[in-house]
Amino acid sequence: MTTSAPLRRHLLDLEDFSAAELEAMLKLASEVRDAHGRAGGKLSWLRGSVLITLFYENSTRTRASFEIAGKALGAEVVNLTASSSSVAKGESLRDTIATLDALAADAIIIRHDQSGAVEAASRWSRASIINAGDGWHAHPTQALLDLFTLRERLGTLVNKRILVVGDILHSRVARSNCWGLTALGAQVMLCGPPTLLPPGFASAFRGRAVQVEYNLERALAWADAVMALRLQHERMGSGHLPSLREYRNIYGLSVERMAAHPHLPVLHPGPVNGGVELDPAIAHGPQSLVGRQVQN
Ligand code: CP
Repeated sequence: MTTSAPLRRHLLDLEDFSAAELEAMLKLASEVRDAHGRAGGKLSWLRGSVLITLFYENSTRTRASFEIAGKALGAEVVNLTASSSSVAKGESLRDTIATLDALAADAIIIRHDQSGAVEAASRWSRASIINAGDGWHAHPTQALLDLFTLRERLGTLVNKRILVVGDILHSRVARSNCWGLTALGAQVMLCGPPTLLPPGFASAFRGRAVQVEYNLERALAWADAVMALRLQHERMGSGHLPSLREYRNIYGLSVERMAAHPHLPVLHPGPVNGGVELDPAIAHGPQSLVGRQVQN
C-alpha cells in the first residue's frame, strides 16, 4: 500500500471531508482493487482485525459488500442484524455497542433507521465506526463508491454536471453525494417533485455547487451523468405523490425519455422500484452503471 489513508477514526458523513482526503480514499480504493486483482482475491491487509456489521435496517448491497471486502482483506467478519440479535429483546444501541467493544471489535459498520444514531455510537465506542446509512441523514460509503464510479467513467469530477433525480427529501444518498461530489469540483443538480424536493432544500449546502430544477427535460439536457433515486415508500406519509404512474411520466428515467439521451451514464444506488423511477431496460442496458456501482 503506497497511499496513506486519511487519519480519521470514524466515517460518519462526507460533509467535512476535504478534496485531499477524498482523493486519498479514492486512490487507496483503486490500489486495493488492483492489489486484490493481482493477488487473485485474497489480501492480508486487515489480518487480525475484527469487523462487525450491525444492521438495524434491511440491506443487500451494503452488508454483503462489507462482508466480502472485509474477508477479501483478511479480516474476521461478524454479521449482526437487529432481528437476530439481542436488540430484538430490547437491548439499547448503547448497550449493544458496549458489548461489541467488550468483544474487541476493531470496526463496527452500522446501519440505523434513526438519523444521528451512528454518530452517537461513535461517541460510545472504542472501535472505528462506519456509517452504512442512518435515517435520512447520510450514507457516506454509498457516496464514496458513487464518486469512484463516476470518476472512473467521466475521468474527472471537476466541472462535471451530475443530476440526482427522485425522492431527494428522504435520501441519505443524495445528501452524502452533494457533499462528496461538490468537494471534488462537480456541480450537482437536484430534481424531483416539490413534495420530495422542498423549495429551499439546497440551502443546506450553502457555499457548494448544488442547485434545484423541477423540470426533468431541462435537467437531463444539462447533465453529464444522472443518478435516479428510489421512492422510499417506507419513509413517506400520504400525499407525497398523486400516483406512481404520474411520477414515472414526469420524473421516471423511462425508455421513452432516455431515448433522447442514449449515451448519458445512468446510476442508481439500489434497490430499484423497476418501472417507476427507472425502467428495467435502462437499468440493465448499455448506459447503466448500476452493476458497476455495486462492484466498486
Ligand atoms: N444502496 C444501498 O444502500 O443498498 P442496500 O440497502 O441494499 O444496502
